[in-house]
Amino acid sequence: MAVSPQRPLVAVLCLLLYFLRSGLSVPDPRQREALMKLEASMQTGGQVVLTDAEQRLDALLFKMKQEEIRKADFPPSMHFFQARHLIDSSPIFSLMQKMPKGGALHVHDLSMVSVDWLVKNVTYRPNCYMCCTDNRSIRFIFSSRWPKALPRCSAWTLLENLRAKTVNVTDLDNSIEGNLTLFTHQDPESVYPSQDVVWDRFEQGFLALWGLVTYAPVFRDYYHEGLTQFYADNVMYLELRALLPEIYELDGSFHDTAFTLKTYQEVTTRFTDQHPDFFGARIIFTINRGVNLSVMVRAVEEAMKLQRDFPDFMAGFDMVGREDSGRPLWFFREALSLPAERGVTLPFFFHAGETDLEGTDVDQNLLDALLFNTSRIGHGFALLRHPVARDMSRKRGVAVEVCPISNQVTKLVKDLRNHPAAALMSEDHPMVISSDDPAMFGSSGLSHDFYEAFVGFGGLSSHLGTLKQLAMNSIRYSSLSPPQQEKALALWQRRWDKFISENTR
Ligand SMILES: *[C@@H]1O[C@H](CO)[C@@H](O)[C@H](O)[C@H]1NC(C)=O
Ligand SMILES: *[C@@H]1O[C@H](CO)[C@@H](O)[C@H](O)[C@H]1NC(C)=O
Ligand SMILES: *[C@@H]1O[C@H](CO)[C@@H](O)[C@H](O)[C@H]1NC(C)=O
Ligand SMILES: *[C@@H]1O[C@H](CO)[C@@H](O)[C@H](O)[C@H]1NC(C)=O
Ligand SMILES: *[C@@H]1O[C@H](CO)[C@@H](O)[C@H](O)[C@H]1NC(C)=O
Ligand SMILES: *[C@@H]1O[C@H](CO)[C@@H](O)[C@H](O)[C@H]1NC(C)=O
Ligand SMILES: [Zn+2]
Repeated sequence: MAVSPQRPLVAVLCLLLYFLRSGLSVPDPRQREALMKLEASMQTGGQVVLTDAEQRLDALLFKMKQEEIRKADFPPSMHFFQARHLIDSSPIFSLMQKMPKGGALHVHDLSMVSVDWLVKNVTYRPNCYMCCTDNRSIRFIFSSRWPKALPRCSAWTLLENLRAKTVNVTDLDNSIEGNLTLFTHQDPESVYPSQDVVWDRFEQGFLALWGLVTYAPVFRDYYHEGLTQFYADNVMYLELRALLPEIYELDGSFHDTAFTLKTYQEVTTRFTDQHPDFFGARIIFTINRGVNLSVMVRAVEEAMKLQRDFPDFMAGFDMVGREDSGRPLWFFREALSLPAERGVTLPFFFHAGETDLEGTDVDQNLLDALLFNTSRIGHGFALLRHPVARDMSRKRGVAVEVCPISNQVTKLVKDLRNHPAAALMSEDHPMVISSDDPAMFGSSGLSHDFYEAFVGFGGLSSHLGTLKQLAMNSIRYSSLSPPQQEKALALWQRRWDKFISENTR
């Protein structure tokens, strides 16, 4: 028997009459429908029109997400260290890996390559020395002669000799690896009980990496390997925040900052020649926010000089290190206003609002970053608590670089369904997804962070249009010139179409 299409409508009307008679009023379902549609259209990707093939993939993604949410261990609600193996076996994650994600706009130089490669490749090279600090961290140096002792560090040992004497080399290599990353198989809550402990281990990890990565031959290979890993994760462009350290040679001599930048540029060119569907990379020069004003003035002057000498490759300037313990942007106002005073262009890409300490000097960084005309905001975790800054960021198209896993590991948010970017995404606030320090967190490229954003704070309302928009945002909000953006977007679109057709058969 055929069911009349009128039936549901009749039922609704009867129900309405019933409630009207009983004195209650049910809101108009058509109005409800219209409001829901309006909200859905306001979110990131809400205006993206999907092709038939895209709609098929979107339906598949929706089904996968529903299944994921039903699981007892829902990865975004867990600490990433404990969720990683679950994510790695998720079919959504496997799609995230294959998806062309555009550019990675917030990644740091010393944490772009998996530590596994550092241990297996770099620490096995000849002339590599190691010492243990008095609080159980380690330091490295490559040297043609026995290196001079460091304060508060045991005597240097040649790793080659140490390995020859060690009964279980796997154990030794694991302990080295453990020093270079925060990732652990133990309970993350007990290993990292507070933000202070995380940041301390973070800083010790960077000091351990320093001597390995800033050795000239390693430096080239490291960066090339980093590009290789991001490329393998289907990232086609990179804006790297780089300290531009002075690179050293085996005889202990050092090169200058320009040499470091030139090396980055040469390796990038070589890589894009080898991989024509990789668009390239640009550098954001960074300095630790713990320095004093005179050091900052010199750094800004150096940045202006580099910006002039490498206009196509330098993207701008930023500060790194923990915001809560470093100096606020306002402290450096005289240094940061130098470019404007001298009529020199030096774009800023400030980290700001990577804090949960509301109302402190550091909490003002968001507003100050915008007052200094920042091009993007790194993290912007506190943006929701600053309506004026949020409004300025939106109106000026200053994108927020959201790094979900980083924020969770540094204990700003526990359950990634509760990340503040959920609110930003619901109103299509300018934003991109990035990974900050993937090697430190044991994540790879951008895919793990895309997974957390899409499945975690994206919830069931984010869809393929959201992902498409986020990928396009990463080009639109990059430091590339408009014509370069057009080129990058065309390249991305070709890769995207291929991805859709390969996954909708
Ligand atoms: C280390 O990496 C370099 C550069 O990618 C490569 O040429 C070399 O073969 C690797 N060495 C080892 C021992 O894996
Ligand atoms: C380790 O020692 C350094 C100084 O050598 C200090 O800055 C750091 O806070 C110490 N870390 C821990 C975990 O004690
Ligand atoms: C070395 O240690 C690893 C990890 O603890 C262990 O799996 C492996 O069996 C050990 N190898 C030997 C030869 O004892
Ligand atoms: C760092 O290395 C030292 C020396 O090998 C080791 O004692 C310590 O356990 C390592 N730390 C981590 C977190 O793995
Ligand atoms: C700033 O720091 C540098 C390097 O640590 C130091 O040499 C210099 O004396 C400091 N300047 C002032 C004014 O404190
Ligand atoms: C920021 O931009 C405004 C408008 O272009 C300009 O007037 C101001 O000088 C800039 N401020 C800084 C610190 O660059
Ligand atoms: Zn960062």
